[in-house]
Amino acid sequence: MPTFPSPQNFTLLARFRRPARDTSPTTPQRLRPWPVVWAALLVSASSLVSPWAVAQTPKRVIDSMAERTRACTACHGDQGRAGPDGYYPRLAGKPAGYLHNQLRNFAQGRRHYELMARLVDPLSDAYLGEMAQYFADLKLPYPVPTANNTITAERLARGQQLVTQGDATRNLPACTQCHGVRLTGVQPNVPGLLGLPLDYLNAQLGAWQTGQRRAHTPDCMAEVVKRIPAPDLIAVSSWLARQPLPADTRPAERVPPGPALPEELRCGSAPELSSPIAASWAPNPQHAAKPAKKGPP
Ligand code: HEC
Ligand code: HEC
Repeated sequence: MPTFPSPQNFTLLARFRRPARDTSPTTPQRLRPWPVVWAALLVSASSLVSPWAVAQTPKRVIDSMAERTRACTACHGDQGRAGPDGYYPRLAGKPAGYLHNQLRNFAQGRRHYELMARLVDPLSDAYLGEMAQYFADLKLPYPVPTANNTITAERLARGQQLVTQGDATRNLPACTQCHGVRLTGVQPNVPGLLGLPLDYLNAQLGAWQTGQRRAHTPDCMAEVVKRIPAPDLIAVSSWLARQPLPADTRPAERVPPGPALPEELRCGSAPELSSPIAASWAPNPQHAAKPAKKGPP
C-alpha cells in the first residue's frame, strides 16, 4: 500500500507547487477547495488501489470507477468536469490515449504536480489506462467560455490566424493540423484546445517554454512553442479561450488531411500524426503513394 502525506504536508506541497499567481494573498478563494480535497483524499485515496484495498478490507464495497476515482475528482471536479478556478483541468471526454500519456508523464517526471504524482505512482500502467478510459468515456457539457483578459481585436485576429493557418515564415503548421479542424482533439492521443480556461492554457504553453512540461520525445509541442514569440502565444491562448465549443465536442476520429508535417515536428506521444497513413487521408489520393513531402504537391 502506498503511504499518503498528512494534511499538513498536503498544504505545504500545494503551496510549494502552486504557481506564484496562486499563492497571492489577494486570491483567497483559490484555497477554498482544499478542506474538501483533504477530506476526500484521505477517505478515498485507498480506494484508488482497489485490488489491494479490497484484499485487505474485504468488507469495504467498491463497485465502480466513479467511486475509485473520488480522490481524483476531489481536485478535478465532479466527474472530472474541471475544478472551479482554471487550475485543475477537465478530464471528462478527453481522448483516452492522451489522458493515459499524461498520467505516465506525471508518474515519470515529464510533468510535475507532486500531490497527483504521489497518487498515481503506485498504480500499474494498466490501471492508469483504465482510469484514462473511464474519464474519456464521460460525455458532459462544457462550460461557456469566460476569458476576459484585455486584448485588442487585432491581436485576437493574429491568434486566430496562427491557430487556423499557422505561419509559413516560421515553418509553423496550424494548430488545427494536429488538434483537429474543429479543435476538439483527435483520437486517440491529441487533446482538444477548446473549453480550456485561459489560465490553464497559458500555464501549459509556458511550462513547455521553460521545460517544466514535456511529452514523449520527439516533443513536438516544445518545438511548436519555440517557434512562437511570447506576445503571439498570448494572442493564441486568448483567442482559443474565447471560442464556444461546437455542438459535437467529441475528438475527431482521424488525423485531419493536410500537408505532411515537417520532420522536426513529429510527436512522440501521437505518432499517428506523422505516419504514412496520415498522408493517405489527404484529399488527394496520390499523396499516399508518394513519399512525405513539404508543402502541397
Ligand atoms: C491534489 C489535486 C489533484 C489530485 C488529487 C489529482 N490531480 Fe490530476 N491534476 C491536478 C493538477 C493541478 C493538474 C495540472 C497540473 C499542471 O499544471 O500540469 C492535473 C493534471 C491531470 C491530468 C492532465 C490533464 C490534461 O488535460 O493534460 C490528468 C490526466 C490527471 N490530472 C488525472 C488525475 C487522476 C486520474 C487522478 C486520480 C488518480 C488525479 N489526477 C488526481 C491536480 C490533482
Ligand atoms: C505537430 C502537431 C501539433 C501542432 C502543430 C500543435 N500541437 Fe499542441 N499538442 C500536440 C500533441 C501531440 C499534444 C499532446 C502532448 C502530450 O501528450 O503531452 C499537444 C498538446 C497541447 C496542449 C496541452 C493541452 C492540455 O489539455 O493540457 C496545448 C495547450 C496545445 N497542444 C496547444 C497548441 C497550440 C496553441 C498550437 C498551435 C499554435 C498547437 N498546440 C500545435 C500536437 C501539436
